[in-house]
Amino acid sequence: MDNNGLTAIEIRGLTKYYGKFLAVDDVDFDVGRGEIFGFLGPNGAGKTTTVMMITTFLEPTAGSIRIHDYELPKESIEARTLMGIVPEESNVYTELTAEGNLRFTGKIYRMSRKDRNKRAKELLDIFGLTEKAHTKVQEFSKGMRRRLTVAMALMHNPKILFLDEPISGLDVQSARYIKKLVRDLNKSGVTIFLTTHQIEVANELCHRVAIIDRGRIATIGTPDELKGSIESVQIVEVSFKTPEDSKIPSLSGINGVNHELRSGSIFRLYTDNPTEVIPSVIDFSREHGLSLKSLNTLGSSLEDVFLKITGQEVGLVTGMYGDEKSPIRKRGKGRMGK
Ligand SMILES: Nc1ncnc2c1ncn2[C@@H]1O[C@H](COP(=O)(O)OP(=O)(O)O)[C@@H](O)[C@H]1O
Ligand SMILES: [Mg+2]
Repeated sequence: MDNNGLTAIEIRGLTKYYGKFLAVDDVDFDVGRGEIFGFLGPNGAGKTTTVMMITTFLEPTAGSIRIHDYELPKESIEARTLMGIVPEESNVYTELTAEGNLRFTGKIYRMSRKDRNKRAKELLDIFGLTEKAHTKVQEFSKGMRRRLTVAMALMHNPKILFLDEPISGLDVQSARYIKKLVRDLNKSGVTIFLTTHQIEVANELCHRVAIIDRGRIATIGTPDELKGSIESVQIVEVSFKTPEDSKIPSLSGINGVNHELRSGSIFRLYTDNPTEVIPSVIDFSREHGLSLKSLNTLGSSLEDVFLKITGQEVGLVTGMYGDEKSPIRKRGKGRMGK
């Protein structure tokens, strides 16, 4: 990270009401130039609303936004030239070819014909889409569409790239491609603002993460700082060889276990005292005729921080969920304005 101490995005008191519903509640944060900044929160937390306001697509109810040295909404036009946006909902035109989409985007950004043709070719090459340059996007896979969407956002060489849930819904290979791309772009000096509901994405990619919950920022820090903030959490993770999961009884009765999370034959036991719990787990498995597959202690993860802050569980094992469905349970009632 090399931000030269300069701010790319400065947000103060940012607030958005949809009618009486308070979607973004008095949010403050700074993003340094050259940072990969993650905006992590459950579905409905207010991430997309925040991005839309910063990128001038949505008018805030209150608050101030500064992009490099430009103040919104006064200097929106100047600010817009610095920003590229990969929206949550794909903005590609399926009737157009890959190249057609890129050229069209260049036109929106008022690039000259020569510049947009040149840049389109360049991006098709970088994104491995040259062979598909003249294919209509309706024939593209989801991963290819996402790549093209990112390429479109880069047409005008933005200094800050916004990606709203860039990995969501992608197969493993495409997800890996996008992650590498984000890192490479950042290395070349582009500031990245990335929203996600996927904890591992924030953990892997981001220099700093803000956790947003119900429209408010709960905490901001590096992934390590956030993990360190709840060092008291200790976990004993146990898995059994038993193929039929239903036959494994609950381990929550073991002395010293505060809380049990279970997924199939894998258990996470939350405890203040792992050294007491481990021998008891071994006794337990012997008593019940179970064979242990693995037994580990885990420090706190970003997932634990998230759980503590939002009260939402996100599953035991990283990558356990397909990307298609959110691992996070749907939020219940919305919050109404003050
Ligand atoms: N146009 C809208 N009108 C009314 N409510 C909206 C609108 N857009 C989003 N919301 C509500 O605002 C909250 C935040 O939405 P959003 O910013 O999309 O969250 P996230 O991107 O974190 O999932 C949600 O409860 C959502 O239902
Ligand atoms: Mg969203």
